[in-house]
Amino acid sequence: MNALSVEEVNALSMEEVKALWHAEKEKERIARDAKRYQFYPTPPDAVRALLRKVEFKGKILEPACGTGNISMELIAAGYDPVDVLSSDYGDFGYGTPYTNFFDIEDHFANVVTNPPFSKKQKKKKGDPPIDPEAEYNDGGDVPRWIRHALRLATRKVALLLPLFMLGGKERYTIYQTCPPRLVLPFVERLSFVESGSEYEKTCAWFVWHKGFKGKPEVEWLP
Ligand SMILES: C[S@@+](CC[C@H](N)C(=O)[O-])C[C@H]1O[C@@H](n2cnc3c(N)ncnc32)[C@H](O)[C@@H]1O
Repeated sequence: MNALSVEEVNALSMEEVKALWHAEKEKERIARDAKRYQFYPTPPDAVRALLRKVEFKGKILEPACGTGNISMELIAAGYDPVDVLSSDYGDFGYGTPYTNFFDIEDHFANVVTNPPFSKKQKKKKGDPPIDPEAEYNDGGDVPRWIRHALRLATRKVALLLPLFMLGGKERYTIYQTCPPRLVLPFVERLSFVESGSEYEKTCAWFVWHKGFKGKPEVEWLP
Protein backbone atom coordinates (compact mmCIF):
# COMPACT_ATOMS: atom_id res chain seq x y z
CA MET A 1 0.00 0.00 0.00
CA ASN A 2 2.85 2.44 0.80
CA ALA A 3 4.05 2.04 -2.79
CA LEU A 4 1.08 4.17 -3.91
CA SER A 5 1.16 7.96 -4.06
CA VAL A 6 -1.34 10.03 -2.04
CA GLU A 7 -3.22 10.85 -5.27
CA GLU A 8 -3.46 7.17 -6.17
CA VAL A 9 -4.74 6.26 -2.70
CA ASN A 10 -7.32 9.06 -2.84
CA ALA A 11 -8.58 7.73 -6.17
CA LEU A 12 -9.28 4.27 -4.71
CA SER A 13 -12.77 3.06 -3.83
CA MET A 14 -13.42 1.84 -0.27
CA GLU A 15 -13.54 -1.74 -1.63
CA GLU A 16 -10.12 -1.35 -3.20
CA VAL A 17 -8.68 0.09 0.03
CA LYS A 18 -10.07 -2.87 1.98
CA ALA A 19 -8.66 -5.33 -0.55
CA LEU A 20 -5.20 -3.73 -0.32
CA TRP A 21 -5.34 -3.75 3.47
CA HIS A 22 -6.20 -7.46 3.50
CA ALA A 23 -3.44 -8.21 1.00
CA GLU A 24 -0.95 -6.37 3.22
CA LYS A 25 -2.09 -8.27 6.35
CA GLU A 26 -1.81 -11.55 4.47
CA LYS A 27 1.74 -10.68 3.42
CA GLU A 28 2.62 -9.99 7.06
CA ARG A 29 1.05 -13.27 8.19
CA ILE A 30 2.99 -15.24 5.58
CA ALA A 31 6.25 -13.55 6.64
CA ARG A 32 5.50 -14.47 10.29
CA ASP A 33 4.67 -18.08 9.40
CA ALA A 34 7.75 -18.33 7.22
CA LYS A 35 9.94 -17.50 10.24
CA ARG A 36 7.96 -19.64 12.63
CA TYR A 37 7.94 -22.77 10.46
CA GLN A 38 11.32 -22.27 8.77
CA PHE A 39 9.96 -21.79 5.29
CA TYR A 40 12.82 -21.56 2.81
CA PRO A 41 11.76 -22.44 -0.72
CA THR A 42 13.90 -24.95 -2.57
CA PRO A 43 15.51 -23.53 -5.72
CA PRO A 44 13.66 -25.22 -8.63
CA ASP A 45 16.99 -26.20 -10.26
CA ALA A 46 17.76 -28.33 -7.20
CA VAL A 47 14.55 -30.29 -7.74
CA ARG A 48 15.26 -30.74 -11.45
CA ALA A 49 18.71 -32.09 -10.57
CA LEU A 50 17.09 -34.75 -8.36
CA LEU A 51 14.57 -35.68 -11.04
CA ARG A 52 17.34 -36.25 -13.59
CA LYS A 53 18.75 -38.96 -11.30
CA VAL A 54 15.75 -40.50 -9.57
CA GLU A 55 12.44 -41.75 -10.87
CA PHE A 56 9.36 -42.19 -8.69
CA LYS A 57 6.49 -44.57 -9.27
CA GLY A 58 3.10 -44.12 -7.62
CA LYS A 59 1.90 -41.42 -5.27
CA ILE A 60 4.33 -38.79 -4.00
CA LEU A 61 3.75 -37.00 -0.71
CA GLU A 62 5.35 -33.54 -0.31
CA PRO A 63 4.49 -33.00 3.37
CA ALA A 64 6.23 -29.63 3.87
CA CYS A 65 5.37 -28.07 0.53
CA GLY A 66 5.66 -24.36 1.33
CA THR A 67 4.72 -22.54 -1.85
CA GLY A 68 5.00 -25.77 -3.80
CA ASN A 69 8.44 -25.52 -5.41
CA ILE A 70 9.08 -29.27 -5.23
CA SER A 71 5.51 -30.28 -6.10
CA MET A 72 5.37 -27.92 -9.07
CA GLU A 73 8.65 -29.25 -10.45
CA LEU A 74 7.41 -32.83 -10.06
CA ILE A 75 4.30 -31.94 -12.04
CA ALA A 76 6.31 -29.98 -14.63
CA ALA A 77 8.50 -33.08 -15.05
CA GLY A 78 5.44 -35.10 -16.03
CA TYR A 79 4.24 -36.62 -12.76
CA ASP A 80 0.44 -36.71 -12.70
CA PRO A 81 -0.88 -33.86 -10.48
CA VAL A 82 -3.31 -36.40 -8.99
CA ASP A 83 -0.33 -38.39 -7.71
CA VAL A 84 1.44 -35.42 -6.11
CA LEU A 85 -0.03 -34.71 -2.66
CA SER A 86 1.10 -31.54 -0.97
CA SER A 87 0.58 -30.28 2.57
CA ASP A 88 2.31 -28.03 5.10
CA TYR A 89 2.04 -27.05 8.74
CA GLY A 90 1.78 -23.41 7.71
CA ASP A 91 -0.39 -21.79 5.07
CA PHE A 92 1.66 -20.57 2.14
CA GLY A 93 -1.13 -20.77 -0.41
CA TYR A 94 -0.24 -24.20 -1.83
CA GLY A 95 -1.46 -27.69 -0.93
CA THR A 96 -3.35 -28.51 2.27
CA PRO A 97 -2.36 -26.11 5.07
CA TYR A 98 -2.20 -26.74 8.84
CA THR A 99 -1.14 -30.36 8.42
CA ASN A 100 1.55 -31.50 10.81
CA PHE A 101 3.68 -34.09 9.03
CA PHE A 102 3.87 -36.15 12.21
CA ASP A 103 0.09 -36.51 12.29
CA ILE A 104 0.04 -38.10 8.82
CA GLU A 105 -0.41 -41.84 9.08
CA ASP A 106 -1.39 -42.86 5.55
CA HIS A 107 1.16 -44.66 3.41
CA PHE A 108 2.42 -43.26 0.12
CA ALA A 109 4.73 -44.82 -2.43
CA ASN A 110 7.15 -41.91 -2.03
CA VAL A 111 7.92 -38.99 0.24
CA VAL A 112 9.89 -36.10 -1.26
CA THR A 113 10.60 -32.91 0.64
CA ASN A 114 12.98 -30.35 2.00
CA PRO A 115 12.21 -30.43 5.74
CA PRO A 116 13.05 -27.67 8.23
CA PHE A 117 16.57 -28.32 9.41
CA SER A 118 17.78 -25.63 11.73
CA LYS A 119 18.14 -26.15 15.48
CA LYS A 120 14.83 -24.86 16.66
CA GLN A 121 11.60 -23.85 15.08
CA LYS A 122 11.28 -20.15 15.84
CA LYS A 123 8.67 -19.34 18.41
CA LYS A 124 7.73 -15.99 19.87
CA LYS A 125 6.92 -15.62 23.56
CA GLY A 126 3.29 -16.58 24.09
CA ASP A 127 2.98 -18.67 20.90
CA PRO A 128 1.63 -22.17 21.45
CA PRO A 129 4.27 -24.88 20.97
CA ILE A 130 4.70 -25.62 17.28
CA ASP A 131 5.32 -29.25 17.91
CA PRO A 132 5.60 -30.35 21.54
CA GLU A 133 6.93 -33.75 20.45
CA ALA A 134 9.88 -32.31 18.57
CA GLU A 135 13.23 -33.88 19.40
CA TYR A 136 15.60 -31.02 18.73
CA ASN A 137 19.27 -31.83 18.60
CA ASP A 138 22.26 -30.86 16.50
CA GLY A 139 20.31 -31.28 13.28
CA GLY A 140 17.02 -29.75 14.36
CA ASP A 141 14.27 -32.31 14.12
CA VAL A 142 15.71 -34.05 11.05
CA PRO A 143 16.11 -37.58 12.52
CA ARG A 144 12.44 -37.54 13.32
CA TRP A 145 11.59 -36.43 9.76
CA ILE A 146 13.74 -39.24 8.35
CA ARG A 147 12.15 -41.86 10.60
CA HIS A 148 8.59 -40.73 9.91
CA ALA A 149 9.17 -40.43 6.14
CA LEU A 150 10.59 -43.98 6.10
CA ARG A 151 7.60 -45.17 8.08
CA LEU A 152 5.11 -43.69 5.59
CA ALA A 153 6.85 -44.44 2.28
CA THR A 154 6.54 -47.83 0.64
CA ARG A 155 9.08 -47.17 -2.16
CA LYS A 156 11.36 -44.14 -1.94
CA VAL A 157 12.15 -41.18 0.28
CA ALA A 158 14.10 -38.18 -1.02
CA LEU A 159 15.06 -35.46 1.45
CA LEU A 160 17.07 -32.37 0.70
CA LEU A 161 19.40 -31.95 3.68
CA PRO A 162 22.60 -30.15 4.57
CA LEU A 163 25.53 -32.40 3.70
CA PHE A 164 26.79 -32.45 7.30
CA MET A 165 23.74 -34.57 8.11
CA LEU A 166 25.67 -37.55 6.80
CA GLY A 167 27.22 -37.46 10.26
CA GLY A 168 25.77 -37.21 13.76
CA LYS A 169 25.23 -39.99 16.28
CA GLU A 170 21.46 -40.18 16.09
CA ARG A 171 21.41 -40.02 12.30
CA TYR A 172 24.14 -42.67 12.13
CA THR A 173 21.88 -44.97 14.13
CA ILE A 174 19.22 -44.54 11.44
CA TYR A 175 21.72 -44.96 8.57
CA GLN A 176 22.98 -48.22 10.08
CA THR A 177 19.54 -49.83 9.86
CA CYS A 178 18.21 -47.83 6.90
CA PRO A 179 21.10 -46.63 4.75
CA PRO A 180 20.24 -44.20 1.96
CA ARG A 181 20.63 -45.83 -1.47
CA LEU A 182 21.98 -42.62 -2.99
CA VAL A 183 23.54 -39.42 -1.71
CA LEU A 184 23.57 -36.64 -4.28
CA PRO A 185 25.69 -33.72 -3.03
CA PHE A 186 25.46 -30.42 -4.86
CA VAL A 187 28.84 -29.19 -6.03
CA GLU A 188 27.78 -25.59 -5.47
CA ARG A 189 26.08 -24.31 -2.37
CA LEU A 190 22.33 -23.82 -2.65
CA SER A 191 20.91 -20.43 -1.92
CA PHE A 192 17.66 -20.22 0.05
CA VAL A 193 15.83 -16.92 0.12
CA GLU A 194 12.74 -15.93 2.07
CA SER A 195 11.30 -12.70 3.45
CA GLY A 196 14.45 -10.78 2.66
CA SER A 197 16.77 -13.22 4.44
CA GLU A 198 19.06 -15.47 2.46
CA TYR A 199 21.46 -18.20 3.40
CA GLU A 200 23.63 -20.61 1.51
CA LYS A 201 24.29 -24.22 2.42
CA THR A 202 26.12 -27.18 1.02
CA CYS A 203 23.30 -29.67 0.55
CA ALA A 204 22.60 -33.08 -0.83
CA TRP A 205 19.59 -35.12 -1.75
CA PHE A 206 19.46 -38.19 0.49
CA VAL A 207 17.51 -40.90 -1.34
CA TRP A 208 16.28 -44.06 0.36
CA HIS A 209 14.92 -47.11 -1.44
CA LYS A 210 12.81 -48.97 1.08
CA GLY A 211 14.42 -52.23 2.11
CA PHE A 212 17.86 -51.34 0.69
CA LYS A 213 20.74 -52.76 2.68
CA GLY A 214 24.23 -51.95 1.53
CA LYS A 215 26.57 -49.09 0.88
CA PRO A 216 25.14 -45.82 -0.42
CA GLU A 217 26.34 -44.54 -3.78
CA VAL A 218 27.48 -40.96 -4.07
CA GLU A 219 26.92 -38.97 -7.25
CA TRP A 220 27.74 -35.29 -7.38
CA LEU A 221 25.33 -32.79 -8.86
CA PRO A 222 27.34 -30.16 -10.76
C1 LIG B 1 12.78 -25.54 4.19
S1 LIG B 1 11.04 -25.22 3.95
C2 LIG B 1 10.77 -26.12 2.44
C3 LIG B 1 9.51 -25.76 1.72
C4 LIG B 1 9.24 -26.61 0.46
N1 LIG B 1 9.31 -28.03 0.75
C5 LIG B 1 10.22 -26.31 -0.64
O1 LIG B 1 11.03 -27.18 -0.90
O2 LIG B 1 10.18 -25.20 -1.21
C6 LIG B 1 10.36 -26.25 5.25
C7 LIG B 1 8.86 -26.34 5.24
O3 LIG B 1 8.48 -27.22 6.28
C8 LIG B 1 7.24 -26.78 6.83
N2 LIG B 1 7.08 -27.42 8.16
C9 LIG B 1 7.77 -27.16 9.30
N3 LIG B 1 7.40 -28.00 10.28
C10 LIG B 1 6.43 -28.80 9.75
C11 LIG B 1 5.64 -29.88 10.24
N4 LIG B 1 5.79 -30.32 11.51
N5 LIG B 1 4.74 -30.47 9.41
C12 LIG B 1 4.60 -30.04 8.13
N6 LIG B 1 5.32 -29.03 7.59
C13 LIG B 1 6.23 -28.42 8.38
C14 LIG B 1 7.40 -25.27 6.84
O4 LIG B 1 6.16 -24.61 6.93
C15 LIG B 1 8.13 -25.04 5.51
O5 LIG B 1 7.22 -24.79 4.47
